Amino acid sequence: MTTAAAPVQGTTHAGLQAWVDEVAAMTTPDEVVWVTGSDEEWTRLTDKLVEAGTFVRLNEEKKPNSFYAASDPSDVARVEDRTYICSVDEKDSGPTNNWMDPNEMKDLMRGLYKGCMKGRTMYVIPFVMGHLDAENPMFGVEITDSEYVTVSMRVMARCGTDVLRRIEGLGEAAQYVPALHSVGAPLEPGQQDVKWPCNPEKYIVQFPEERTIWSYGSGYGGNALLGKKCYALRIASVMARDEGWMAEHMLILKLTSPEQQVYYIAAGFPSACGKTNLAMLKPTIPGWKVETLGDDIAWMRFGKDGRLYAVNPEFGFFGVAPGTNEHTNPNAMATINKGNSVFTNVALTDDGDVWWEGLENMPEHATSWKGEDWTPADGEAGVLSSHANSRYCTPIKQCDILAPEYDDPQGVPISAIFFGGRRKTTVPLVTESRDWTHGTFMGATLSSETTAAATGQVGVVRRDPMAMLPFIGYNAGDYFQHWINMGKDADATKLPKIFYVNWFRRDEEGNFVWPGFGENSRVLKWAIERIEGKAAAVETPIGHVPTPESLDTDGLDMDPAELAKALAVDPEEWKAEIPQIEEWFAKFGDNLPTQLQVELDGLKARLGVE
Ligand code: GDP
Ligand code: PGA
Ligand code: MN
Repeated sequence: MTTAAAPVQGTTHAGLQAWVDEVAAMTTPDEVVWVTGSDEEWTRLTDKLVEAGTFVRLNEEKKPNSFYAASDPSDVARVEDRTYICSVDEKDSGPTNNWMDPNEMKDLMRGLYKGCMKGRTMYVIPFVMGHLDAENPMFGVEITDSEYVTVSMRVMARCGTDVLRRIEGLGEAAQYVPALHSVGAPLEPGQQDVKWPCNPEKYIVQFPEERTIWSYGSGYGGNALLGKKCYALRIASVMARDEGWMAEHMLILKLTSPEQQVYYIAAGFPSACGKTNLAMLKPTIPGWKVETLGDDIAWMRFGKDGRLYAVNPEFGFFGVAPGTNEHTNPNAMATINKGNSVFTNVALTDDGDVWWEGLENMPEHATSWKGEDWTPADGEAGVLSSHANSRYCTPIKQCDILAPEYDDPQGVPISAIFFGGRRKTTVPLVTESRDWTHGTFMGATLSSETTAAATGQVGVVRRDPMAMLPFIGYNAGDYFQHWINMGKDADATKLPKIFYVNWFRRDEEGNFVWPGFGENSRVLKWAIERIEGKAAAVETPIGHVPTPESLDTDGLDMDPAELAKALAVDPEEWKAEIPQIEEWFAKFGDNLPTQLQVELDGLKARLGVE
């Protein structure tokens, strides 16, 4: 949001002012600055970051008004083992979250926050997730001592004085999520700052009953841009449970058929499993068109007409850089090439541009994300120029294929929900569920190999229910029940159809069997034709999968044997999943909805498992 307003100091909202004063008294910054959202402020902050060495200004011709940053090598991804849901009652955080007593956690963190902003500026960022004109605008206020975070928040969320004025207009009763962030790196007088201040000790904490977020120690991504995963997923999922809606880790896309029929699709894949790419897909099948509404988060509620409507609460894309190129995601490339973006942990080329693995035009020389010389020979030796979780942060409004409905606070009616993960084996290209409850079972048992989006081992298969494992702000058993209830209370004929996809199956040589990216439009088409009752399918123990003829393969350069491999449902592989699903469900004890146990029993019976 760009307003010409001068920086405001303070607010007429007494509760908000009191919180800001309290945080300032605890963290003792040198000054407090209220973020306005103005262009002048962007220039001031980015200049300051350039001066500090955190940002390198990129070549104006290649990436106007854009910046390169390299983080501390220890601060590169979400820290799931340091992320807590501090509900009053431990059982409300459930078996999938870390928990600590909220009072104990607050005592501990107050100790860390004491004086933690010394020598720094404290920024107060009023923001709104979703539309300012929504019936109930979802306000937040992030306090941070990081200019990098402030600049990134301005890209990712609607921020500034316009938002603050709206909060103030609602009076003291205005609801907002207070979100406190510090990099945890106070400066002594005269002490030289580092390029990427952070603290080895990290806490990412949600207090669900109080709708409050406290984050400490990290400056990167979801750990620090608190509107995104912390608010729009963890806190919002709790609000959604209480108020009868859904906060999901899903992209939203608009699909138009050659007959000009319009469908909206939401898809939940774990981090770094293809949401941003699917959201901006360029179909390879003639006459089909995709437009984007969102690439990471969907808030969904039933409309008066009984259909499920989705809005994207975000204002920017925080996309995985490696693998992004003119072939895989031309729309993302066009978006970032317009500038106004921040690139973190990619490589910096000698002509002031950015580069990463998978991008065209490999440079002869670059500076790696670790600040080291990098040449193609290093690449051949397996040295990466960019961190696997390096990201571009870019305004959504720059996306040429942004659907006009993005600006509608009512959102769009969803026809299909896709779940998907990264599995080398077992999971076929696409499976259609029988009904909402079966689809909920597919989501609840979703599995995926871990990725570099979170710290820890990569490539380990884990259950990631609805791609929400790190983001459910309460007991995941209750979350499953919420999903089932949402379907039970709805008109079944108007519910979205649920599908399970896997773009990542491999052959014996380790190659992906399905070409993916733009070719995924073939799967979207099949799903729509299933909804319309037009496409054929084979019934298997896990659900309906395409017959090889029902999937549009016109112009697809793929060996039929490979296609069969992509679509195959191997009962032996699925039998091997059963003990893993049982072990997963056992975690929930009495909190597992009986309907999911019934679904599992049905699957076992169809597979002939005792
Ligand atoms: P997100 O984090 O869920 O939004 O995932 P992205 O869309 O950013 O993709 C993460 C990584 O997976 C990137 O390196 C992509 O290039 C890669 N990817 C995305 N879609 C596909 C696909 O259909 N096939 C294959 N093989 N890779 C994909
Ligand atoms: P994504 O989001 O990988 O799901 O797009 C960023 C993150 O994991 O923090
Ligand atoms: Mn993404």
